[in-house]
Amino acid sequence: MNLNALRNMSYGMYIVSSGKDGLGNGQIANTVFQITSDPTVIGVSINKQNLTHEFIEKSKGFSLSILNTDADFKFIGNFGFKSGRDIDKFQNINVKHTSLDIPVVLDNTCAWIECKVINSVDCGTHTLFLGELTDCDVLNESEPMTYSYYHKVVKGKSPKTAPTFINN
Ligand SMILES: Cc1cc2nc3c(=O)[nH]c(=O)nc-3n(C[C@H](O)[C@H](O)[C@H](O)COP(=O)(O)O)c2cc1C
Repeated sequence: MNLNALRNMSYGMYIVSSGKDGLGNGQIANTVFQITSDPTVIGVSINKQNLTHEFIEKSKGFSLSILNTDADFKFIGNFGFKSGRDIDKFQNINVKHTSLDIPVVLDNTCAWIECKVINSVDCGTHTLFLGELTDCDVLNESEPMTYSYYHKVVKGKSPKTAPTFINN
């Protein structure tokens, strides 16, 4: 079996955020996809160890901030290799709050989407949260970053907590 086959699957790059009662956190996720259009339902796969997982379970909501190609490794590393349990990831970052009080990142992003959780699937290490679209907006015309661009151009890696981690 050649696990490199999995490297040929395509994804985007997102900050999945959640929060409640004035507290908020965000993490990098590539395993994000639209499932239906009417109503619009979006799936996100979130590691059970992540603080973001805890916030999504508690608040029953999440946002996606769609990264653009200006996001460098330092910016992505802040959200993808550190936990909000140890640092305030939104310090010195431009953030706005949606009507459901969920943070949305305005730096290095081109659009945002807000969802309320309508279902979830226990997938072992991860939970697949299914969210129905509640609000969204385009911020600018910049180019969305793909997972492939992150590996090939930003020269970044994925940690063990990512659903697409491959150990080689
Ligand atoms: C490129 C990349 C892709 C990632 N994709 C996911 C993902 O789809 N789901 C996930 O749970 N974690 C993913 N991660 C890992 C989380 O971003 C990471 O575990 C983060 O530190 C969790 O932060 P938190 O504890 O503050 O929620 C990814 C990380 C990177 C760098």
